[in-house]
Amino acid sequence: EKVPLKMEVNGKQQNLSVEPRATLLDILREQLDLTGTKKGCDYGQCGACTVHVNGQRINSCLTFGIMMNGKKITTIEGLAQGDQLHPMQEAFIKHDGFQCGYCTPGQIMSAVSCIREGHAGSEAEIREYMSGNICRCGAYPNIVNAIQEVKD
Ligand code: FES
Repeated sequence: EKVPLKMEVNGKQQNLSVEPRATLLDILREQLDLTGTKKGCDYGQCGACTVHVNGQRINSCLTFGIMMNGKKITTIEGLAQGDQLHPMQEAFIKHDGFQCGYCTPGQIMSAVSCIREGHAGSEAEIREYMSGNICRCGAYPNIVNAIQEVKD
């Protein structure tokens, strides 16, 4: 039996009816068509599903949708302002912070949090904060460069 869920996603109020066991990730992708958020592992190991809830990053695959009642969600689709990319998106492009791109939405959401939460002081600190976001192409040095550029 489905249950009601009210949450704000990328500035838009959503009144949904969801399966009680549906993850935030599946609701975003399947009910709201926000497929920028990726499913890599579906058990908290890769970071591809990273989104912001009330400004804090979380793995949406580990989060039940019904826990999101009244919360504000931001996904990769919500970062740009109209045609204006977020500075972190610009920096990833400039520094080639990706190859295949599958992990990129999660990397960018974590990278924004890294600076916002004050964990971009040194390269080691950035690498530690970003360690939950796996990139199988190995774009890590370029990702660090992108974060360092936005921080400065
Ligand atoms: Fe959520 Fe991998 S899909 S951490």
